[in-house]
Amino acid sequence: MQAVTVTPGERDSLRILDIPDVQGSDGQVVVRVLQGGLCGTDAEITSGLYGEAPAGSRYLVLGHENLGVVESAPAGSLSAGDLVVSTVRRPCPEACLPCQSGENDMCLTGHYRERGIQALHGFMSERYAEDPRYVVPVPASLRGVAVLVEPMTVAQKALEQTFRIQGRMSWAPRQAVVLGAGPVGILAAAAMRIRGLEVTVVSREPEGSTRDALLREAGIRYLSTTSAPIADLPRRLGAIDIVLEATGAAAVIAPALGILGRDGVCVLASVTEVGRQGEIDLGAWNRQMVLGNRLVFGTVNAGRRHFEAAVRDLAVAEERRPGWMERLINRRLPFTEAARALVRAPEDIKTVLDFG
Ligand code: BGC
Repeated sequence: MQAVTVTPGERDSLRILDIPDVQGSDGQVVVRVLQGGLCGTDAEITSGLYGEAPAGSRYLVLGHENLGVVESAPAGSLSAGDLVVSTVRRPCPEACLPCQSGENDMCLTGHYRERGIQALHGFMSERYAEDPRYVVPVPASLRGVAVLVEPMTVAQKALEQTFRIQGRMSWAPRQAVVLGAGPVGILAAAAMRIRGLEVTVVSREPEGSTRDALLREAGIRYLSTTSAPIADLPRRLGAIDIVLEATGAAAVIAPALGILGRDGVCVLASVTEVGRQGEIDLGAWNRQMVLGNRLVFGTVNAGRRHFEAAVRDLAVAEERRPGWMERLINRRLPFTEAARALVRAPEDIKTVLDFG
């Protein structure tokens, strides 16, 4: 079968290769891949900056944002024809407490493996095999948007934790700010709207762009940093209860922390480059955190329950605003054109590769 592969550590090593077809072993689901989404992590892996091939393999099959259809499944799990999305992370060999408890996304040792990223082949091949525990069913009605489930899980995990942690007090958040208008930022904003929050997405693109219009349609405000510096947001918007950082830009972290209201939560959800130094007045920052009961936490990856929550939210979004979510996928290419697909234009939100 054909697959989109890279040689981790090498620049521009993306190749379409003919690789051995999957032999689903006993107890595994065999899935025919329909679509794969591309994200910043894939771009990093393709540039040779991240990622690891499975032991004994020269290449890594790319792809962790996925959608497929079950070809065969062990009795009592899924059925042939079911639409499915697979989770990404697998437990560490040491079986640390979170991994043992099915919370691989919280792995303590850091020796977890991730499909398409870290030591396990990804989903950008015509077929893949997997343990049914990691494969989440999706209703057929979500066929057009389900490739967005994986990026949506990042937002779901962030929000689940936000509300669980804030169970520490009586808390009725009113306003959220999302920094970054990439797919994760937009999906997080949509999930926050579903929860009744007032949401503003802030990014670099000027106001009046396609993204701005798309967000406005969903009742989400868009502000450009060219017209409103991040530090000005509390003055313009009032108290900010939740800040979700999803830009991937280190320069945004200090301002993100600075705009948080009392009892507020700042969620750091993007991986930034290393080596960016800046000055921060730690005394002032600590004072603000302490005197305002503020909280900052980091979040990565997602567990099965966040995939299930993402499926539910995509269904709610589809029901409330049919066709809106699907417009986030504004570029579709056959998987054989993966190299071209990785070259992004400024207006691109989500690029999806078709395998069907
Ligand atoms: C994926 C996560 C993964 C992270 C770090 C992200 O792009 O969505 O599943 O944990 O990269 O490897």
